[in-house]
Amino acid sequence: MSYLELANEKLNKLRDRKDIVILALESSCDETACAIMRGKELLSNVVASQIEIHRRFGGVVPEIASRNHTLAVENVVKEALVKANMTLSDIEVIGVTYGAGLLGALLVGVSYAKSLAYSLGIPLIAVNHIKGHIAANYIACPNLKPPYICLIASGGHTAICKVQDYNQIEIIGTTVDDACGEAFDKVARCLGLPYPGGVEIEKLALAGECNIDMPIPFKGEDHFNFSYSGLKTAVINYIHNKEQKDEEFNKADVAASFQNRAIGMLVDNTIRATLKNGYKTIVIAGGVGANKLLRAKMSEEGEKNNINVIYPPLNLCTDNAAMIASETRILVESGVSCSDIDLDGSASVRIFD
Ligand code: KG4
Ligand code: ZN
Repeated sequence: MSYLELANEKLNKLRDRKDIVILALESSCDETACAIMRGKELLSNVVASQIEIHRRFGGVVPEIASRNHTLAVENVVKEALVKANMTLSDIEVIGVTYGAGLLGALLVGVSYAKSLAYSLGIPLIAVNHIKGHIAANYIACPNLKPPYICLIASGGHTAICKVQDYNQIEIIGTTVDDACGEAFDKVARCLGLPYPGGVEIEKLALAGECNIDMPIPFKGEDHFNFSYSGLKTAVINYIHNKEQKDEEFNKADVAASFQNRAIGMLVDNTIRATLKNGYKTIVIAGGVGANKLLRAKMSEEGEKNNINVIYPPLNLCTDNAAMIASETRILVESGVSCSDIDLDGSASVRIFD
């Protein structure tokens, strides 16, 4: 019997169980992460961040990221097992992010996951990173069920989708240029703040006023798309203009004004989309979901409009493997097949493949 036949046979026997033990790996960017779940219960969640390594370059250097994933992966797996009080023989399914992300970085997680699954003779499940971000919400909120509207806001994606069922997801709005997190990172860089910029802008904005005019893309238009490139350029032009004229300016005011508009766009579009489509729940996914202004504004607008707003705890907003374990569980329950040992990483999977 081939590995795939054996693994699929095992998977079919597991599907109806509510206490499957899943070990998941995530290595799509600069976090090497491993998590273990039993059913809906998160037993361990280990993240080895490379932020300090990449900070001196002002952003993630793909080759350096891959090399550091290679160095870290074994230790994060061991640590996750110890924290869950388990050994590899307790693991029943392996989940892994196969895309999207940096190809070399993805390949480290994918290769390690394949070796584990093959040597243990257990099913291997390939997980789409963005669906993982959404699934982080099922850990924080085990009773959450579709249908709901999901706002995805990460470093590479910004979109609004209707989640009609776990695997029935329709995008109804998307960025036409930069992602929201990408705009945060670029503006932060221009303000001389360290990588990753989102959280740094949030900190600096606390000391500033929203007193600088920022453009509003698609003003008054009846759709749910986003554009961050004009906003980013407006901020960069403002800074360059001041610098060229040798005029003083308050960086905290720039951060506050930019953040207010960037977050305002996310909230406006998501609330409009939810009302127009008659949904009652908004779910937030992705790194920008850690932004406290976003969480506060979305909750405030949700309350005004009788919409329930759900977001993951801060540590499950940015990249982690718990979200990949959670999506693995959903895929297993919904009847997905195992991946074979020729599973490849993919830099550019579509948002919901
Ligand atoms: O989801 P994520 O960890 O990785 C991707 O899948 O892209 O998102 C990372 C993005 C970065 O652009 C980062 O600056 C942004 O999320 N981010 C934030 C905050 N924390 C992370 N943006 C705004 N405010 C934050 N607190
Ligand atoms: Zn991510």
